[in-house]
Amino acid sequence: MALLAIETTCDETAAAVVTRGREVLSSVVASQEQLHARWRGVVPEVASRAHVERIIPVIDEAVARAGVTRADLEAVAVAVRPGLVGSLLVGLAAGKAIAAALDLPLVGYDHVAAHLYACRLAYGHDMVYPCVGLVASGGHTSLFHVRGPLELDRLGGTIDDAAGEAFDKAASLLGLGYPGGPEIERAATGGDPHCHRLPRPLANDRDRLDMSFSGLKTALRYLVRPPHGPPDQPPPTGRRLADLAASFQQAVVDTILAKVALAVDRTGCGAVAIGGGVAANTLLRDSVEALGRKRGLRVFVPPRTMCTDNAAMGAIAWERLERGANDGLALDVTPGTDRAAANRRT
Ligand code: KG4
Ligand code: ZN
Repeated sequence: MALLAIETTCDETAAAVVTRGREVLSSVVASQEQLHARWRGVVPEVASRAHVERIIPVIDEAVARAGVTRADLEAVAVAVRPGLVGSLLVGLAAGKAIAAALDLPLVGYDHVAAHLYACRLAYGHDMVYPCVGLVASGGHTSLFHVRGPLELDRLGGTIDDAAGEAFDKAASLLGLGYPGGPEIERAATGGDPHCHRLPRPLANDRDRLDMSFSGLKTALRYLVRPPHGPPDQPPPTGRRLADLAASFQQAVVDTILAKVALAVDRTGCGAVAIGGGVAANTLLRDSVEALGRKRGLRVFVPPRTMCTDNAAMGAIAWERLERGANDGLALDVTPGTDRAAANRRT
């Protein structure tokens, strides 16, 4: 018996089957990256329509790959916030239909909390609470005092672009593809991360757990296309591209890491967990591990496939089901103040 989890908050159509013991029997992700690549960012209406086409085949595949049938399902969970409203509604409609047809409990879950739950899935009962949680993705960059899987107090985060959004926009400036994070990571290989001195706004402000990435993006823009330079400059290549990408990546990671360290100081937590698409970045992962060694902290870093959007992390819904929750067919979406998701286009 197992839980069917559904994820359609942004541009991945995903479904997973997870047992009560938190064993992931299947996790299917249909990415829309290619659909949005020509706009170098997510176009909400295109995303919603693609979810409509894919949601049922993705759910069917998740059930089949898990080696179960619909009759074996015990509950249905849907990510209901935050996200693009049209995208969220497609997942919710599918979840409601299946729950109603099979007479199963239906629960909603929070996508951001689920990103951190990927650590609980990866580390099982070794996962430590309370901890400092960092969620860095295309739509969010926030720090939390995580008292339990469902108990997250937001400590701070970006006041403008999300870190992943900054990667996506920087990639576009550098003439690279979408999504920008993996492209910049690849382009940065062999580059000198200290070649260009890019700003790290707020990083040294020990009074605030806020971060800012928009000035960094502007600084990169002026390096790539100097204000008084020729208008039609070709994008950088070779060594120059590698140095720019490496310097940008280093600046984002330095900014994030300074605030993770400050959050550890403020909360006194002995553990740090990270999640979200940007947590797939090797420099960030290594830097958080290094911080952990330096400060004697437990560090929880999910496998890369569990960092980017997926439905396996919807296993967090078990935490609510085990407390007797059943939102039923009255369940609704809460798009939230997901400014970044709606504004991600460059
Ligand atoms: O969590 P996610 O899949 O979707 C949202 O909830 O937004 O995160 C996607 C974001 C994109 O902005 C992408 O560029 C970034 O995560 N990303 C990365 C890497 N892989 C994905 N950023 C930096 N380095 C990576 N390796
Ligand atoms: Zn996400």
